[in-house]
Amino acid sequence: MIVAGLEMAELKPGFGAEIHNVDLAKSTERTLDSVVEVFNLHGAVLLRDQNLSPDDLVRFMARFNEPEDHTIKQFTMAGHPKIYLLSNKVVDGKPIGAHNDGIGWHTDYSYKEAPVMCTMLYAVEVPPEGSDTLIADLCAAYDELPPERKRLFDSLMLHHSYQYFMETREFGRKKLTQELIDENPDVVHPLVRVHPRNGRRALWVSTGTVREVVGMPNPEGLKLLDDIVAFATQERFVYRHKWRVGDVLVWDNRCTLHTGTLFDDKKHTRLMYRLWAKGEKPMDTASARAQGVPAPV
Ligand code: SIN
Repeated sequence: MIVAGLEMAELKPGFGAEIHNVDLAKSTERTLDSVVEVFNLHGAVLLRDQNLSPDDLVRFMARFNEPEDHTIKQFTMAGHPKIYLLSNKVVDGKPIGAHNDGIGWHTDYSYKEAPVMCTMLYAVEVPPEGSDTLIADLCAAYDELPPERKRLFDSLMLHHSYQYFMETREFGRKKLTQELIDENPDVVHPLVRVHPRNGRRALWVSTGTVREVVGMPNPEGLKLLDDIVAFATQERFVYRHKWRVGDVLVWDNRCTLHTGTLFDDKKHTRLMYRLWAKGEKPMDTASARAQGVPAPV
């Protein structure tokens, strides 16, 4: 398939696009904007065999929106604060990146008032097996719900908390400083999120940061949430990305969940650069109707 001069193939039926004929380091702003347009319509874009400097990465991310800062600054790249290192490598006795940071289904920054629009990973070193990144298409999951579930879920709100997430997560659990707690107050977001560019509804769950479904006492609320995550992450909704060095994968956090997976970290090393672009406050279905955002046919 060729769209606006881009040669593309779906990552999986109905979701994502791999673009074959773009060298990001040498592309014009116009080409980069076409890549962003594909991203806005398809939920994720993949470009392989790229060779990008930190400045190239930031320039590409800026075509999506202003690059976002990282909550924890410990592993940002020296001289490039918008680039965060994910790695199990240790240099001079010190870890150079966050290890197993993204294990567990989630969407980045869901604990913020304006969660990040997209996440970009650039593969610098990858193990021969394992460490795949899985991305679940939450619009496809919503579309499959029966009408009465859609009606119920459209009205539910979720209480997200960074403090709760960091103090309860499986990997990298930590007690937050008062400064981090103050910088990251709890927020409430809709369970069903409308995509501002394509009008599609996404079943916008997340594990980890949700401490309750508003108005539904626990354990019932969190049990419902677990059931929704289990539904939305069934294999038929999931794209599994097997990394190669030079891959750039960008996914749309407004309509996907993702998780990292483990690898043999005693034997192999992994180094990824992660960037984020700023997003907006999630839009619920009632606001979308009030603002005239049409439901896609
Ligand atoms: C992330 O969740 O940000 C990273 C996922 C991965 O390392 O595969």
